[in-house]
Amino acid sequence: MPRHLLVTGGAGFIGSAFVHHVVTTTDAHVTVLDKLTYAGHRESLAGLPEERVRLVVGDVADQGLVDELVGSLTGEDDAIVHYAAESHNDNSLNDPSPFLTTNLIGTFTLLEAARRHDVRFHHISTDEVYGDLELDDPVRFTEHTAYNPSSPYSASKAGSDMLVRAWVRSFGVQATISNCSNNYGPRQHVEKFIPRQITNLIDGIRPRLYGAGLNVRDWIHADDHSSAVLAILDRGRIGETYLIGADGEKNNLEVVQMILEAFGRPADDFDHVTDRPGHDLRYAIDSTKLREELGWTPSFQDFEAGLAATIDWYRENEAWWRPQKAETEAKYAKTGQ
Ligand code: NAD
Ligand code: TYD
Repeated sequence: MPRHLLVTGGAGFIGSAFVHHVVTTTDAHVTVLDKLTYAGHRESLAGLPEERVRLVVGDVADQGLVDELVGSLTGEDDAIVHYAAESHNDNSLNDPSPFLTTNLIGTFTLLEAARRHDVRFHHISTDEVYGDLELDDPVRFTEHTAYNPSSPYSASKAGSDMLVRAWVRSFGVQATISNCSNNYGPRQHVEKFIPRQITNLIDGIRPRLYGAGLNVRDWIHADDHSSAVLAILDRGRIGETYLIGADGEKNNLEVVQMILEAFGRPADDFDHVTDRPGHDLRYAIDSTKLREELGWTPSFQDFEAGLAATIDWYRENEAWWRPQKAETEAKYAKTGQ
């Protein structure tokens, strides 16, 4: 029997990238459990073979549904891969409540089901649990960096990581965790930095830079995140945490100027807008453990080329993002962003 994966949040940006990657590179079957919130799109799974990918619309905090789906994973290599989350910092500053329900209670519900049915669990998390670095900090985040989250989003993800660690230690759940840096690529919601600026430019609107634009993010293509997660599922040690990153540090101003250049617009054709409260200055991942222990390397080494392909995707798939654009910009307008 082929491996069966239960992928939560598989209709979101990174979850759907993972489902596409699994279907292309393995013979596994996938059940996606996704609530289809504002961030989930059924169309993100379009074109995948129905006999291998099934979408169940539901909530990761629904104990009965989660128990039924996890209970059906009976193969030796079957696993839960948990992507579902409320994922946007700015939204968490406006209303933290769904972040606690989905990110904490949802993870708890899945862990309990994994415990009851003795199913392998991989938890997807973020480097934001570590707080931020100074611009000139010589040491990047490692698996040993102390947790120090800044926003309701990163605090809820930090809490979910802690639940996983406790369920491993106290109940012997067969779990691993990965904390990844900022992802880019196709099918990312237009509320996020890169797609917001690309779709602004398609619409003839100037890009919006929070504050001075000197905050640094460590960009990785979502497909490289996916290959790292598969490596951890296959070869990762139970109970371990792996940091995923592709040495892609850039400040926001540099990224906006690369996007402007791709559109043939002048380098100063953007607006500075109100900064995010508590805005983390710099994230940077040291992924030595993942690379040396599991032999993983990223395939997208050229950020500019990956960005150009992402811009093409948004140009060619306006029907996918257009329905969210006006509402997203109206929300940002309320906070002066
Ligand atoms: P996303 O917002 O694009 O997608 C989240 C998905 O989860 C959506 O399809 C949504 O419908 C679904 N979902 C939300 N609440 C749910 C619930 N209660 N029950 C079932 N499904 C629910 O997010 P993303 O950017 O793809 O992030 C996915 C995961 O990766 C998250 O756990 C996030 O913390 C983590 N992560 C993201 C990044 C990044 O750069 N975006 C970096 C590192 C880690
Ligand atoms: P975002 O995509 O929200 O990811 P995260 O907060 O998880 O890093 O933002 C990436 C960076 O871009 C962050 O420093 C905030 C900044 N930003 C802007 O400058 N302008 C924008 O319009 C948005 C959405 C983000």
